Amino acid sequence: MPRLTTSKSFSVGKLKAFLRLDAGLSRDIPPDPWRTVQRLVGGLHNARRTSQKRAKRIAALKSEIEELKSARAEERRLRHYLLRDAFDRRGPWITGVRIDGEIYGRATRHTSPRLKEFFQAFPEASRGRVLEPGSLEGAMTLELAKRAREVVGLEARRQSVQRAEFLRGLFGVENVTFHITNLEEDDLSSYGTFDAIFCCGLLYHLPYPRSFVERMAAISPNLYLDTQYARTEWELAEREGLQGWVRKENPEDPQSGLSGTAFWPTLEELYRLLSESGYGAIETLALLPDNRHGPRVHIAASRR
Ligand SMILES: C[S@@+](CC[C@H](N)C(=O)[O-])C[C@H]1O[C@@H](n2cnc3c(N)ncnc32)[C@H](O)[C@@H]1O
Repeated sequence: MPRLTTSKSFSVGKLKAFLRLDAGLSRDIPPDPWRTVQRLVGGLHNARRTSQKRAKRIAALKSEIEELKSARAEERRLRHYLLRDAFDRRGPWITGVRIDGEIYGRATRHTSPRLKEFFQAFPEASRGRVLEPGSLEGAMTLELAKRAREVVGLEARRQSVQRAEFLRGLFGVENVTFHITNLEEDDLSSYGTFDAIFCCGLLYHLPYPRSFVERMAAISPNLYLDTQYARTEWELAEREGLQGWVRKENPEDPQSGLSGTAFWPTLEELYRLLSESGYGAIETLALLPDNRHGPRVHIAASRR
């Protein structure tokens, strides 16, 4: 029987390697089973320790998040309470203010195209000086101030100006000033000149609109006007050389004029008044003959 002898010595490792190669079964030869079991047990133990640690950390983070959430809800509740109280103490409001999804002041707040129309008609008003006569509680004044460099609000009623000042402070607006004044008499010259005037809801509360339009024309080349006008079929009278309707005012109403009557020129007379006051370019931006408070018009009048 043939014998194979060799003087070559094999290390166990090399031999194992060789045999594995030779047999092509490298994965089939199990390592020492006891050591494998020990290794697996150790691994499991470590993994369990790690996952326990991780689970603990996750639980801690979850409870931190819950605490933060309830602190936030509490803060929101407190903020809402403080705001509600601050608004209620200064009420009754005409303006509604939305803060953080809640409405304060008056419950409803209507949207209006007037700001958009104003800045479109007078681009110079953006970053310019703007006057708002009849500024009420300052809601529009503060909106104007987001784009204008400076805004001056003029208003007759002290309580309305106090509310406006409250809103100004609440929102930290610094480019707005409010003055209490009677616009039937104020000649407007003490406020300087303006790039544009935003005159909404005021003219039809004045007894002498011609006088007021002329005073506005003296301090600004641009006038945005949102006002009521008289229909020609109404019972008309003449005032300041204009045809119009004499309307009774209720000075007790915080949104009305200060005198017993106001004068509404007809639309044609309104255009004549503007052009005679120096506004050579007049554009009708919106004509609202069926407005629920009476026929209304939005006009951009300019000296250019
Ligand atoms: C109908 S509200 C219009 C408010 C705001 N401009 C708007 O369009 O929403 C009229 C405002 O003009 C003010 N006003 C009326 N006559 C005034 C006068 N003679 N002098 C100053 N303000 C006056 C009222 O107090 C009121 O705030």
